[in-house]
Amino acid sequence: MPISEDFGRRLLPVLPAAVEHFGTPFHVYDEQGIEETCDAFDAAFRHLPYTEYFAVKALPNPAVLRLLADRGFGFDCSSLPELALAREAGAAGDRICFTSNNTSREELAEALAAGALLNIDDEAVLDKLADRPDVPETLCFRVNPGARQRPAGTPGAGDAFLGNPEGAKFGVRADRLTAVVARARALGVRSFGLHMMLASNSLTAAPVLHTLDLLLEHAVELHRELGVTVGSVNLGGGLGIPYRPGERPLDLAALGRALDVRLDTWSRAHALPRPRVAFESGRLITGPHGVLATRVVNRMTKWREYAGVDAGMSSLMRPALYPTAYHHITAPFTDAPPEQVDVVGSLCENNDRFAERRELPALAEDDLLLVHDTGAHGHAMGFTYNGRLRPQELMLRRDGSVELIRRAEEERDHFATLDFAPDRIGAPALAGAAG
Ligand SMILES: Cc1ncc(COP(=O)(O)O)c(C=O)c1O
Repeated sequence: MPISEDFGRRLLPVLPAAVEHFGTPFHVYDEQGIEETCDAFDAAFRHLPYTEYFAVKALPNPAVLRLLADRGFGFDCSSLPELALAREAGAAGDRICFTSNNTSREELAEALAAGALLNIDDEAVLDKLADRPDVPETLCFRVNPGARQRPAGTPGAGDAFLGNPEGAKFGVRADRLTAVVARARALGVRSFGLHMMLASNSLTAAPVLHTLDLLLEHAVELHRELGVTVGSVNLGGGLGIPYRPGERPLDLAALGRALDVRLDTWSRAHALPRPRVAFESGRLITGPHGVLATRVVNRMTKWREYAGVDAGMSSLMRPALYPTAYHHITAPFTDAPPEQVDVVGSLCENNDRFAERRELPALAEDDLLLVHDTGAHGHAMGFTYNGRLRPQELMLRRDGSVELIRRAEEERDHFATLDFAPDRIGAPALAGAAG
């Protein structure tokens, strides 16, 4: 969706100077917009109460993470580098949730040493934990509901959710949860949380409420079978943002009210205390508050019209990765009559394109384009195939200044892993070789 009027009003006056000074391409994030969304998030959910573990994978930049830590948010980490970033931002202990999958012994050890809340994704990981002397008092379990995820009578509703849980690699099978929690209790775990993520960029409350319902069903089952009281329910990420013009944003306040009513009704019906709610929202917090600024390198005519720009999949993968992904594009300083173009990068991949047959003002070499809504899963997903390097990241500060918060990758970074000490092991001796 076009960036907010406020962001535009703050960004456009300083954009020419930023382009001149820093060069393109760059992602620029809006400090004020991010903070305002944090405030709206807090206002919507504070009465539940709740914890937001910002999904570091969405925007793993220390300057942004520090902003969020200052707002009282925790962090959801899925790898050791993400854990290091969260700690560097000032988070510690249970302000960090470690939602990894296919977790190694090394990852377990480091997450435990950091005091992070572990989100156990599989029985095999619990086996690894059982081998350790420091099994924590509190554990969270990611649950994979399998076919149970579909609300009864709504065939195909699963399509709106995150893939198809029966085929997903994430989480403990729902029908194994009781046995797994019993095992954890035998290992000394005393307090339990449950996690499930079904929503993906959802603009409605339904998948989030459905996730809560499924987790609460498990909470009842665990209490009945094991006498365990579930202390927290983590609804994952997946709260959506409108990427396309005309889409309506998710009504956070209404979601907060609906969650509250659900929890209250459940608590009274089952005479169980309300669990604390947790989120791992990434996209909703930072997504709308970033744009990718890129300049036209070549205006080309083939069987279709093309604007080749100086950014590509190394800067923003979403449009290539997800066929339905859309990013709004504007040319803020051009008012030429409209034409239809494909906006493409320079990778030797035909899906290296930000838009197909998009109506934009007729473009010329050096024209500036803004690709909107790149504040989450944008720079972070970029990759360096073809030696196309990741761009710089900037922050538009509240006072209107623009600060570099990550430099662009350079050739020395690309070649850094070719700088290594020579190493080689000998060939195996051939069986039966003459001595
Ligand atoms: C486990 C988990 N939590 C949180 C998120 C963040 O999702 P979003 O940025 O859409 O809120 C993701 C996204 O991939 C995820 O896999």
